Amino acid sequence: MSRRGGTIPAIMSIWSKKSISALLADSGDGAGGLKRSLGALNLTMLGIGAIIGAGIFVLTGNGAANYAGPAISLSFVIAGLGCLFAGLCYAEFASMIPIAGSAYTYSYATMGEGVAWFIGWNLVLEYLFAAATVSVGWSGYFSAFLSELGLHVPAAFASAPLGIANGHQIVRAFTCVDPASGMTIIDPATRVAQLFADRGACIAAGHQAVDGIINLPAVLLITGLTLLLVRGVQESATFNNIMVAVKTTIVLLVIGFGFFYVNRANWQPFIPENTGEWGKFGWSGVLRGASVVFFAYIGFDAVSTAAQEAKNPQRDLPIGMLASLLICTLLYILMSLVMTGLAPYGALNVPHPVSVAISAAPALKWLEYLVNIGAIAGLSSVVLVMLMGQPRIFFTMSRDGLLPPLFGRVHPRYQTPAASTVVVGVVAAFIAAFFPVQLLSDLVSGGTLAAFATVCIGVLVLRRRSPELHRPFRTPLVPLVPVLGAAFTLGLMYTLPALTWSLLAAWTAIGMSIYFGYGKRNSVIGRADASAAVTGD
Ligand code: ALA
Repeated sequence: MSRRGGTIPAIMSIWSKKSISALLADSGDGAGGLKRSLGALNLTMLGIGAIIGAGIFVLTGNGAANYAGPAISLSFVIAGLGCLFAGLCYAEFASMIPIAGSAYTYSYATMGEGVAWFIGWNLVLEYLFAAATVSVGWSGYFSAFLSELGLHVPAAFASAPLGIANGHQIVRAFTCVDPASGMTIIDPATRVAQLFADRGACIAAGHQAVDGIINLPAVLLITGLTLLLVRGVQESATFNNIMVAVKTTIVLLVIGFGFFYVNRANWQPFIPENTGEWGKFGWSGVLRGASVVFFAYIGFDAVSTAAQEAKNPQRDLPIGMLASLLICTLLYILMSLVMTGLAPYGALNVPHPVSVAISAAPALKWLEYLVNIGAIAGLSSVVLVMLMGQPRIFFTMSRDGLLPPLFGRVHPRYQTPAASTVVVGVVAAFIAAFFPVQLLSDLVSGGTLAAFATVCIGVLVLRRRSPELHRPFRTPLVPLVPVLGAAFTLGLMYTLPALTWSLLAAWTAIGMSIYFGYGKRNSVIGRADASAAVTGD
């Protein structure tokens, strides 16, 4: 064994676990630490801020029209239950180890450094990639909103240069525009950008095919939110609270007024008959719908990344996570019932299904404008909370030595991880500017599911290994709840498309090279183990 860094101790460090007491001691309180300013209400608002977004405003229509019909509300029940099982496991860890690293920290305590790194790396997909994905959805709503006001963002500057064709081919993306006005060609039936099979079809119809150059609105949103996050966590929480108030009010208006105009015939049959193919309607369609709308629930765990900025984390983190999850589950079930009751589910396969559902009832015309505002507010708060969570996970990983010290620095005046926030903002803006949203959203689900599964398994491991630890919040019905949570998340992972699995494998390979190239050599715990082995301690 070599003395400096020792090969055997270094290999061993992959399995090194951090004790709970060491984790708590590293929590960064006091000089150079983050500022504790968030209470239970702010944390719940952060959860709702991260949850309600593209899932309900964009993906519900796709799930209802293609897989589940009106029973998409049952898909929301199933996905919500699965997330509740995972959420109960998160709550136990968050109350026991209130540290910003979320699932990364919990796996460091239960399954060792190698698994912790793997999960930390997957959380980049959940947070950084989700911020980029949702900002692209925001850009679509925002550009449409500006068009209604007579301000047109040129198509080339509101779309990425890359797109996906046939579900797996990466191609040069284009938008079909009217050469006279420069405006995107809108399908009069659905009022969304009309899709042409190829450039030839667009040009043959007398239009112009404009290549996407950059998604500028998405870049500008990320830049603005990054600056806000650098400025302060309290300022960011206030902005988030306003956005959450706007979007939940509008969701409640849609539910409250929409119910009066539901045409019950649209709910018949509630579970459309299966077409003969697995996942196309029937009960299998309800399950497939659950995997589509799972995206809508991503984010409740972001509350745990604010652990070091919570005033009373052991009590308030479980409240923040579970309250936001329960509130959103209820809103989603009601909202999907109203949407499929207002319009036939087949009509909802558009990027703005809530507006289409509302427009089926002429008396609700006044709500359409508000729905756009709700979506713009909703999606921006998701991007904000995701951009907030990522640097805080990096903060913890850096304090553990697995990432360079830059990521562990706290701004002396603003008390935020400013440098890390800027790095995350720049990378997220780059991804949002150039990559297609379809490719990104499945990666986000894949990374999140891996983290959820690990947290569920982690509860089982730690209950067995350290039953004596003080757990301010205890997951009920152990082992049933963690086992169901793990089964649900692994089951959904199984349904991800082959392209996503290949990309996840490539992502893991990049992560492992960084770990072996940097993290393992600099790991605080690995070094301590190595010096203990050398000195014979
Ligand atoms: N749950 C978040 C959304 O639906 C990621 O936008």
